[in-house]
Amino acid sequence: MLTAYDFPTAVLEEEAGVDCILVGDSVGTNILGYESERDVTLADISHHLKAVARGVKSALLIADLPFGTADTYEKALESSDKLLSSGADCVKIEGWGEKRVIINALADKGVTICAHIGYNPQIHDGKPRTFGKTACQAVTLIKSAVELEKAGASLIVLEKIPCEIAQLISKTVRIPTIGIGSGPFCDGQVLVIADLLGMTPKVFKHAKAYAQLRREYIKSVESYIEEVGKRVFPGAENCSHVGADDLEEIENLLKRES
Ligand code: KIV
Repeated sequence: MLTAYDFPTAVLEEEAGVDCILVGDSVGTNILGYESERDVTLADISHHLKAVARGVKSALLIADLPFGTADTYEKALESSDKLLSSGADCVKIEGWGEKRVIINALADKGVTICAHIGYNPQIHDGKPRTFGKTACQAVTLIKSAVELEKAGASLIVLEKIPCEIAQLISKTVRIPTIGIGSGPFCDGQVLVIADLLGMTPKVFKHAKAYAQLRREYIKSVESYIEEVGKRVFPGAENCSHVGADDLEEIENLLKRES
């Protein structure tokens, strides 16, 4: 699973063969220049989701229910309907505990749900930390995963959970577990596309940059600025021309009109 927030990214991820595409609330900090995931609105997700949906052919398209849009069953259903009608196959809901009831009610209405436990950016407000390090926390997480599966979740993201606990959860539930910062024993993995491509200055411990596009990006723009300044670009191959006779006629016309 990878995040995508626009049409060209969705097309390229599809071409590369990714199974699931997530329009996550990470759109806020990665694309929209927001301070926090909490600033992302349902309209933001819906706008980016529609663009991504135009590029998705076969991947499962998952959309995040942003902060404050799934606090009650009624709100969660209304928000899910909006995302499903904007092209999502599945909605992702952060949280456990009280969220189980809402997930259960949505699943009963036929909504496909991706649960998300461990570190939850919307709930823990941008202060990433590992969950499940103590026996008590670990047992709570494992029980929560089981409850969310029973409530009707179809898959579950495990974020910043120690490898051993993520492995235990993956062995315990039958639905697929998708890890981020939770080690290699989950059924699948998810990354923010900007981290995979090396687009961000920050390097997160949980992520791996498979390219250095930030560097390439800046180098390309610098080269463009330099070539425009030196009139190297546009080159002969980038130009179209009129013939000498036509040019003469144009100049004569202009003279006559002035
Ligand atoms: O919004 C997001 O990108 C996410 C993933 C990091 C799981 O929730």
